[in-house]
Amino acid sequence: MARLVIVSNRVPDQAELAGARAGGLLVGLADALVPGTLWFGWSGRRAEQTSTTTRGMEVNGITYATINLGEGDYQSFYLGFSNGTLWPLFHMMPSLTVFDREQYTVYRKVNKAFAAALLPLLKPGDLIWIHDYQLLGVAAELRVLGVTNRIGFFLHIPFPAPALLEILPPSDEILKAMLANDVIGFHTERDRAHFLGAVEAVLGIGATAHGVLTLDGHVTKVVVTPIGIDADAFTAQAIRASRRVATKRMVESLAGRALMVGVDRLDYTKGLPARLDAYGRFLSTYPEHRRQISFLQVAAPSREEVDRYRALREELNYKTGAINGAYSDFDWVPLRYMNRTVSRSLIAGFYRTARIGLVTPLRDGMNLVAKEYVAAQNAADPGVLILSRFAGAAAGLQEALKVNPIDIDSVAEAINRALIMPLDERQARHVALLERVRAASASVFCQTFTAALTT
Ligand code: G6P
Repeated sequence: MARLVIVSNRVPDQAELAGARAGGLLVGLADALVPGTLWFGWSGRRAEQTSTTTRGMEVNGITYATINLGEGDYQSFYLGFSNGTLWPLFHMMPSLTVFDREQYTVYRKVNKAFAAALLPLLKPGDLIWIHDYQLLGVAAELRVLGVTNRIGFFLHIPFPAPALLEILPPSDEILKAMLANDVIGFHTERDRAHFLGAVEAVLGIGATAHGVLTLDGHVTKVVVTPIGIDADAFTAQAIRASRRVATKRMVESLAGRALMVGVDRLDYTKGLPARLDAYGRFLSTYPEHRRQISFLQVAAPSREEVDRYRALREELNYKTGAINGAYSDFDWVPLRYMNRTVSRSLIAGFYRTARIGLVTPLRDGMNLVAKEYVAAQNAADPGVLILSRFAGAAAGLQEALKVNPIDIDSVAEAINRALIMPLDERQARHVALLERVRAASASVFCQTFTAALTT
């Protein structure tokens, strides 16, 4: 078996490795993390200069090799081009997208620095698997350095419609750089079609019927490999969590009311203001449910140095106060809002307790919360998943209640429908959903991607 080299902007930190914090990539790649694997990326630390050599750490036979980012590079590469340009544009929010040529230059420079620091660690035959929008140019930089290994790239966020990608001034350079990979993977058919359409529109290169693209004699295969979870392990975790004191305290505090839960990074793509508005609409339209429901929204702090995220935090504080001010009683609070990171084991217990899982991003690559909510349910008395049709997960979870997150009346109706849904319908939906979550698992994701990369 060839050695797998994972390359991502973030490398799991101690807390994630110890399972204390939810980690999307760590969950999705669990199957690939066999002894011998190398995981390379940013340490999460900032220094005066971006490092030219790596620091290594070994945990359970896996080597984690990291570099630090220089302060200026952190500003321009991470906060700037990655999260101020690519993140909103790829989530199809052009009005939030800014472009600064200098930041793009630094983005390219940092991608080059990633490639240069990785080079001495590579061996012939290694399979290199690069992840996400921060590193769109790394494969091309590795090729410049003479690397001939198989290289794959997986995009964890959506790929925008061609007309939106064209807004990006260097869209041609970025697409060409991506075609230095041998395999490119997306979560959904829609993302893949957007990518192929963009390559056609911007570079004038058409794909074969099997999604194969050729640029200057180099061939790239474009595949759909949705990320997943280990459903059985998460079910077991949720069962364990339900026996914990913390979960019992949560259940007691509900005093027989139904729990609705939402768990997100505090990010404008997650549709949190509209979600709170929808909850407010629900409370005003269905007064019979007041005092019968408690909504717990966990919003983990994220990218707080970006103004847009700070403004969102203020907005959510305000909306939380408005809802609770309008509807709270001396013995009932309709909305519990936690603006902090909560441990994965606690969250598993919340999911299992919750009658409704509310997952309403405006746009999302996949969204593993939706899958984890399904896996956490008690099959005898399962809760209902309300899911945005704009999450990648919606493509594979047909039996969820699908909503358009900006139509707050439709979300309010879905909450009502979930609350009054008879047990047999909840069970039928859950059986089907669980089957789908188990089938599109983390291990299938790793196996299909690495198989495409190997052949
Ligand atoms: C999303 C992205 C990841 C990113 C994560 C956390 O899931 O797809 O690439 O690592 O958000 O964001 P952060 O900016 O803190 O790395």
